[in-house]
Amino acid sequence: MAILPQHLRSLTPARLRDDVRLRALTVGLGLIPPRTMHSREDARLLLDAAREARRVVEIGVYEGASALLLQRVLGPGAELHLIDPFGRHPDALPGGWGASERATRRLLARSARRLGQAAPHLHWHVALSHEVAERWSAEVDLVFIDGDHSEAGCERDWLDWSPFVRVGGRMAIHDARADRPGGRGLPGPTAAVARRLARRSLARLDDRRRGRSDRGCAAYRLTCNPRRP
Ligand SMILES: C[S@@+](CC[C@H](N)C(=O)[O-])C[C@H]1O[C@@H](n2cnc3c(N)ncnc32)[C@H](O)[C@@H]1O
Repeated sequence: MAILPQHLRSLTPARLRDDVRLRALTVGLGLIPPRTMHSREDARLLLDAAREARRVVEIGVYEGASALLLQRVLGPGAELHLIDPFGRHPDALPGGWGASERATRRLLARSARRLGQAAPHLHWHVALSHEVAERWSAEVDLVFIDGDHSEAGCERDWLDWSPFVRVGGRMAIHDARADRPGGRGLPGPTAAVARRLARRSLARLDDRRRGRSDRGCAAYRLTCNPRRP
């Protein structure tokens, strides 16, 4: 089914455009694309961090826009773990927004069919990130934190998941640059990242990308293996 052209979609009143059930139906059927939650710069940074990764964890999937990007860049045999309880989350989404597990799964399944042999393995975890972390043991190349946007939630995701990232692997947090000139973000992720840095976190900023892509999404390369606190 073809995606409705942008000029038709832009005629839809906001009330309908944001309706959770209508979005689920139309995203699930492939009539509209998933809502883009990242800038072009964020996407570039994320793709860069994921290149050649074999196991990636995304915390916060929503309609699947960033998961689609990751799915396309990861090679065959790689694992993409998608964590989201779905539904509405006041600390993760604007009021009234929410995503449907079924629609997001259909979107990524369709994309996997298109990619064929080149598609990575998708692993769905319909749960809160800390619940998945409690039973997790595998080493990870990249964790992308984009779930609970409260400061406590971001802090928790960082502490729960960074011990699983291999030395040289990446942690990326979305919406974490509200405190920079020209930066974008929200108070929770920005404060959590600032606190990590102030405490001389075990991770180091990836300087290659700094100033160019690092305006909304904060990315770090782990230089040693942090322990669980
Ligand atoms: C901003 S959206 C994610 C956007 C997505 N990464 C993208 O770029 O398209 C946040 C998502 O996080 C999910 N979420 C909220 N709290 C969470 C938690 N503790 N663990 C995992 N996901 C969570 C929400 O259900 C919501 O779908």
